[in-house]
Amino acid sequence: MTTKIKPRRILVTSALPYANGPLHLGHLLEHIQTDIWARFQRLRGHECHYVCADDTHGTPIMLKAQELGVSPEALIAQVHGEHLADLQGFNISHDNYYTTHSEENRAHASSIYLKLKQRGYIAERSIVQAFDPEKKLFLADRYVKGSCPRCDASDQYGDNCEVCGATYAPTDLKNPISILSGATPVEKESLHYFFKLPEFTDFIKEWLGNENLQPAVRNKLGEWLESGLQEWDISRDAPYFGFEIPDAPGKYFYVWLDAPIGYMASFENYCQRVGLDFDEFWDRDAAASAGTELYHFIGKDIINFHGLFWPAMMHACDLRLPNAIFAHGFLSVDGAKMSKSRGTFITASSYLEHLAPDYLRYYFASRLGSGVDDIDLNLEDFVQKCNADLVGKLVNIASRCAGFITKRFNNTLANEVDNPELLTDIAQAGDALAALYEVREFGKAARDIMALADRANQYIDEKQPWVVAKQEGQEQLLHAICSTGVIAFAQLIAYLKPILPSLASDSEAFLNTKLEWQGVNDSLPGTTINKFKPLLKRLENSSIEQLLEANRQSSPAAAAPAQANAKTSGKAGGKKPAATGESKDTTIEIDEFMQVELRVARIEKAEAVEGADKLLKLTLDVGNETRTVFSGIKSAYSPDDLQGRLTVLVANLKPRKMRFGTSEGMVLAASSDDDKAGIYLLEPDSGARPGMRIT
Ligand code: 2FM
Ligand code: ZN
Repeated sequence: MTTKIKPRRILVTSALPYANGPLHLGHLLEHIQTDIWARFQRLRGHECHYVCADDTHGTPIMLKAQELGVSPEALIAQVHGEHLADLQGFNISHDNYYTTHSEENRAHASSIYLKLKQRGYIAERSIVQAFDPEKKLFLADRYVKGSCPRCDASDQYGDNCEVCGATYAPTDLKNPISILSGATPVEKESLHYFFKLPEFTDFIKEWLGNENLQPAVRNKLGEWLESGLQEWDISRDAPYFGFEIPDAPGKYFYVWLDAPIGYMASFENYCQRVGLDFDEFWDRDAAASAGTELYHFIGKDIINFHGLFWPAMMHACDLRLPNAIFAHGFLSVDGAKMSKSRGTFITASSYLEHLAPDYLRYYFASRLGSGVDDIDLNLEDFVQKCNADLVGKLVNIASRCAGFITKRFNNTLANEVDNPELLTDIAQAGDALAALYEVREFGKAARDIMALADRANQYIDEKQPWVVAKQEGQEQLLHAICSTGVIAFAQLIAYLKPILPSLASDSEAFLNTKLEWQGVNDSLPGTTINKFKPLLKRLENSSIEQLLEANRQSSPAAAAPAQANAKTSGKAGGKKPAATGESKDTTIEIDEFMQVELRVARIEKAEAVEGADKLLKLTLDVGNETRTVFSGIKSAYSPDDLQGRLTVLVANLKPRKMRFGTSEGMVLAASSDDDKAGIYLLEPDSGARPGMRIT
């Protein structure tokens, strides 16, 4: 049974979405992850506040508003409404969803900046930047394109070359142009303000010791420390949509300065509304005496802002520190990067038009762990998993028992259940499940809950209430069996309540009770429930196809045939090309190719695989490690011929579990489409050594 715990006082945040476009499933991954954790904490009796906001400042938002012919204020107001509706549609339980363009945020950003300045942590110096003489705008790296100063490749962005990997300043590009106007940028000098991050090197080292940091975050911070912390430019020149820096006319806070401060501003706005004490969650001393906790959920791409600049600023201003930052990985759809231009960009609103939120919440939960691993939304697996687990296992328990309770027992559960051991076991799993939720191992929690659902279904299979129902004089037994099933269902739903709020609320209506984390074994027997209505429909492939179609048509890809995403349109299943008459484009970008890690490998051992006609098991020396790879080259090579040969390994392929073992990569070989012309293993030129990267 659950042990009594002292309520904690927690504040939790998700990263603030930019206000220049719709929310997509990538945003949802983070908000769902945070929401599950916040709902879990509340369900366990803790005080847990969850705030967020739109991130409204910066050049892209200013430019977007210009493009639309509206003011930035009008743009962010409209986007705020859309974001809020999407988030509510997914049952994200923010206590406040605010905006960084607020008076609270202006006040906090200014006061933090002035404190930093007064304490000597702000440096001022002039820098030279690319300037668009037509738009009259300083150009960030991504707004300048030209030829690489090292390899001459054309059409490269202002920070690095995607062809040769060189890094440089936009002013180093050959034949540069501003992508905003096409004009040739000029170099222009202006005064900037810098946060002196290097002065916090020792502090960051200490912060690194925080035991709550994920290993991947700690390593990243360690790397940055090792390469030396740099001063951080926190100012931007007018025109800029943001807050003007106090005593610096024409200079604005860089969006990333006031964005995390937006967490505070949103919380303050909430405190004013509900009467909470702001300082108890943000002031160093007040927070220490109140024992409050602060957690930021973020994507792994913004660890530097939350792991370096933000804690250093907080430390410098006597603010409390986050207890942890929880980073998650990137989301892909069907194995490919979500991309607006390629059409795999599924917006939150279009998802909600086609599917219920709990499916996605469950799928994401089932894939989420405590680490920063990337997550793939495999649409086939999504349908299969939701149907198998939610419909086939979970709801099935109730639907197999509830009808009898209604028809035969006037909707009343028995006082005595048939299988108290099963119900006790399910109740006793509570502490272990809570421990998994606490460390964000939602996938493991969901798996364990489904294992309990399997047990409940096995029990019903064995007891066959539909047979007992036909036997005379077995009323009491039937009542006890079906009540056991319904109570088991209730407890499983209680455990899943943080993940599946809609299903939980519909189940509560059916069970006629508000579910707590535990306690149904005592509270439900003898109570009256309501007539069972189907709680969840099976997901149909056709809904997924419609969802993809809707996004494909409404995405920029439809208007940009050359960038249509072959994979997604293929997935949508035999659809005719879009009205633009596009043909399927199977080209990939250089950065996509560069993600494939090819390495030289030496075949140490090659063995036949028992029971496999085509496979050889290869043991490969890849420099500082050994890999096992199963390769379909048996028809072309005898194992002895291969020993000692060099070949090419795809080294960053996800390990694949096969019947014979796990294959840790793939070796490259040439063949014709039908293999009839033979199979030819690729071999590097002599002199190559195991482990060398092939570029
Ligand atoms: O990366 C982003 O989408 C940012 N808008 C996140 C800001 S999080 C916080 F610091 F405000
Ligand atoms: Zn180059």
